[in-house]
This record gives sequence, C-alpha cells and structure tokens, in this order.
Amino acid sequence: MHIIHEKEILENLLSAKRKAGKKIGLVPTMGALHTGHLSLVEKANTTADVVVISIFVNPTQFNNQNDLANYPRTLEKDSELLAHHYPDCIIFAPSEQTMYSDQLQANTYEFGPLANYMEGQFRQGHFDGVGTIVNKLLRLVKPDFAFFGEKDYQQLLIIKKLVEIEKLPVTIIPCSISREKNGLARSSRNELLTTEQRERASLIFQSLQDVKQEFGTKSVIELSGEIEKKFKNSAILKLEYFIIANAETLEPAKKIETGTKYRAFIAAYAGEVRLIDNMALN
Ligand code: PAJ
Repeated sequence: MHIIHEKEILENLLSAKRKAGKKIGLVPTMGALHTGHLSLVEKANTTADVVVISIFVNPTQFNNQNDLANYPRTLEKDSELLAHHYPDCIIFAPSEQTMYSDQLQANTYEFGPLANYMEGQFRQGHFDGVGTIVNKLLRLVKPDFAFFGEKDYQQLLIIKKLVEIEKLPVTIIPCSISREKNGLARSSRNELLTTEQRERASLIFQSLQDVKQEFGTKSVIELSGEIEKKFKNSAILKLEYFIIANAETLEPAKKIETGTKYRAFIAAYAGEVRLIDNMALN
C-alpha cells in the first residue's frame, strides 16, 4: 500500500499505471473511515484496477468552524484499516497547502436548483466547497470512475452536475447507504455521539421507514406533520428539516405526481452533532 502526500508523486505513479492500461477508481473521503466508506472502496476495487482513496478534511466545505475543529482526524488508524482490507490501494493524504496553495477559497458554481434546498440552504457555501475540492481531486487523479455514497444524496447529484459543468471524462458511480444495526446511517460523526444519543438516533431511520410505508396513502403535509411530532417528542434529537423531494431535481414536493420518483430527507441534531439521512420512497 502507498501513502502519498505530494501531488507530483501521485501523478507519476498513476501515469505509469495508466500507460500499463490500468483503469483508475477514486474514492474521495474526509477520513475517520468506517464500514460505509469501505463499501465504496469495495465497489471501487471490483470496478477498477487501481484504487485511490483520498483522505482530506476540506476546510472550504465547513460553514461551522466548530464542526471543522471537532472533525475526527485519524490517518494512522485509517491507513491500518485500508492496509488490512486493501493492501494494494493508494492513499492520497495531502496537506491544505498542497490542495489550496495559499488560497484557501472555494470557487462559485452554478449548480442551479439542486443546491437551493436542504444542505444548500442550511449549510451556506457547503456545495461550493465540495465542488472545489472534488474538481481538484478529479483533475489530479483523472480517474475512470469515482465513487460517492447515497448517504449524501444531494452531494451525489451535485457531483454529477459538477462533472457536466467541468466536462470531466469520469463515470460517477453511486453506492448504497451502509447502516448500523439500529438503522442509523454510518457516519464519521457517529463517533462523536454518546451511547444514548447513538441509540436514540435510530429515530431518523425509523421515521424515514415510516414515511416510506405510508407514502401514497397520506399527503405530504400529513407525513411532514407526523415526522415533526415524532421529533418534538424526542428529548435527544432536534429536527432541522424533513423534506420529501423529487429524486432528480430535489425540488420539495407539495403534491405527489404519478410517474415521478421521490425521496425523503432528514437532517437532525443530537446535541452538537448534525446527522443526515435519506431514503427512496417509490
Ligand atoms: P465523507 O463524509 O468522508 O464521505 C466520503 C464518501 O463516503 C461520500 O461519498 C459519502 O457519501 C460516503 N459515505 C459516507 N457514509 C456513508 C454510508 N453510511 N453509506 C454509504 N456511503 C457513505 O462526503 C465527503 O466525505 C466529502 O464531502 C467529500 C466528497 C470527500 C469532499 O470533501
């Protein structure tokens, strides 16, 4: 396994692989790797010949400086985990200076309505930061495939749009959501929860499942009301948003139209920790 910190070393290694006809897969992450991340690496490993996992806590996508400061950084543990499961993979762990030089700034993108709601609304500037770093990584690694989790479904659609805007020759591969035993979507932030918060956070998954079950029998307003009530009754979880949206445009749904795909989205706080999840409804 290679752990690379410098761009030039990565570029040289990958250009040799490319010349040898190898297909390259990229899994961008911010580290603190868990089974959810590994499911992306597994898919990359079965799809590409060479797998690059980038580990970089990207400052420009954090709108909350506390969240950035508290974000777990565990490169040594992450490398051991990857070395154990994927001894041939390449880890790219650059510094801020390497990725941004002296300009720690995000570009501005026209992602359109995709960025208007949910994470785009509650985390101002977040998707410009994500777009900026993913664009840098895709241009550097030049992968044939890049892998993104449906856990961050809005991000996945934003990345597809980014690839279209930047005209990048890469195939974006979506990967399904990996969950803990109680249904809680795996996340690096789960490590910051107390045992009680982590147990009670299953309310997010249960709520999504309830909506899925009742979808089509109740109106969007009724479903939203039920979810809001469930969270009001929770002493541990505070709902930030619940939205049923068109799964392609992410426009919030007011009325359900036949022939349209919908997804439900939740963001909630357990103490200081912000959790998100989503589920396909039809
Ligand atoms: P991070 O939160 O580390 O997630 C890296 C990738 O793992 C993302 O594509 C995310 O959707 C996926 N992922 C995380 N938890 C998952 C789960 N439980 N099931 C399936 N996939 C999961 O997302 C980011 O980092 C950053 O925004 C990044 C794209 C790396 C840009 O900085």
